[in-house]
Amino acid sequence: MEKALYLNGNWVKAGEYTGLYSPYDGEFLANIPVASAGQMEEAIQFAKNAETSMKQLTSLEKSNILLQICYQFEHRKEEAARIIVKETAKPMKFALAEIDRTIETYRFAAEEVKRLAGELVPMDAAKNGANKFAYTLHEPIGTVAAITPFNFPQNLVAHKVGPAIAAGNPVILKPASQTPLSALFLAELIHNTELPKGAFQVLTGSGSQIGDYLVLHEDIKMITFTGSPEVGKSIKMKADLKRVSLELGSNAGCIIDNEVDLPAIAKKCIVGAFSNQGQVCISLQRTYVMEDSYQPFIDEFKKLTKALKIGNPLSLETDISAMINKKETQRAKAWIDEAVNLGATIEYGGEIINEVLQPTILANVPSEARISCQEAFAPVVIINKISTVEDGISEINNSIYGLQAGIFTNNISKALKASKSLQVGGVIINDIPTFRVDQMPYGGVKNSGTGREGIKYALEEMTEMKLVVWNEG
Ligand code: SIN
Repeated sequence: MEKALYLNGNWVKAGEYTGLYSPYDGEFLANIPVASAGQMEEAIQFAKNAETSMKQLTSLEKSNILLQICYQFEHRKEEAARIIVKETAKPMKFALAEIDRTIETYRFAAEEVKRLAGELVPMDAAKNGANKFAYTLHEPIGTVAAITPFNFPQNLVAHKVGPAIAAGNPVILKPASQTPLSALFLAELIHNTELPKGAFQVLTGSGSQIGDYLVLHEDIKMITFTGSPEVGKSIKMKADLKRVSLELGSNAGCIIDNEVDLPAIAKKCIVGAFSNQGQVCISLQRTYVMEDSYQPFIDEFKKLTKALKIGNPLSLETDISAMINKKETQRAKAWIDEAVNLGATIEYGGEIINEVLQPTILANVPSEARISCQEAFAPVVIINKISTVEDGISEINNSIYGLQAGIFTNNISKALKASKSLQVGGVIINDIPTFRVDQMPYGGVKNSGTGREGIKYALEEMTEMKLVVWNEG
């Protein structure tokens, strides 16, 4: 099967193709077009031409276009989920949940566009402001390049495409090299809406070549990227004065206090640590448990981990399947082995069986082990003992990342202290750091990035504020 690029509302062949295979069983999925430099340039010029028609759309028209995307996802939900499963080995139940979230995300964009408003500026608060009347407007920023990761190939795309359309911007999508089919499926859906031609296009092929072309081009006005800190930093360095939004992952931590409901917390933590094989930017990677809770928590966690179903991602029963590729699987295994050499103990898992890294629980992990201080992006969780909640806060803050953190406690002062002291973009009290709903502000500090997603916030970032001052005479 040969796929095509989606440019200016047309399906376009490429001069070169590359094979796409399932990470789970190596099944051939499709030949994916490799966009040439000429096609990248064409995409940018088509998008530039679409800027005028996008700017002329009313809020109601943009909202209706976004709802048309929702309706089509609702009708083709299983198909969309199956593509995710095939491309990424994400287990079917999580892929279906992702499509539900995707629909919600586009719906939030459809609603938020109706609320995007400027504000009145109290000009007469300044000595020279008397007899002046002023307000702000949010104008489209221009063509947006969205560079997206493999781990949520529809919902993290929705977080970029939804607000870009809502803001009135054309968007060029460069999906992860492992998830072109989801991006081209979205193009099929958008093709059936009233979005102007050229306002949504998909470039597949060499990640770094397309990325560089978009980042360096003067007609691209904003880059929105989710991925690794290395790539994110290099984008920021090259982007010149373009606006850049970066969501770069983390080694998310969680504190578990004494006198809490450990079985209920362990159930949440299993989801936080192992869903999508831990390939989630806010996957629960580091757990810091108070002494009295420690052993009962580990026992409960192990019991639940043993019950997880491992295998074919197409089965609705499956909880854990293959990681995105063999290289990443081997890398995670090497980090586990390194932690063990540094003194950690394996409480569960630690092996690769039939190409699948087993869900792994590590205890007593030193903070300098890469599985602790780097982003694991694998089904591996650390459970370390702490004597005070303050120790847990220091451990979590001892990180180059700061996306989200969680704390389970029944003590309001400790919760308040954690919310003030944790150096992260979001503190989740009495839930896992992996918690996210799609309208909340989402983004990090330190190496976890810059800017905030969550439709309202991304929408504002994708607009240019304009001030209008009237002299009343
Ligand atoms: C991410 O991996 O950054 C996204 C997590 C989510 O949307 O649940």
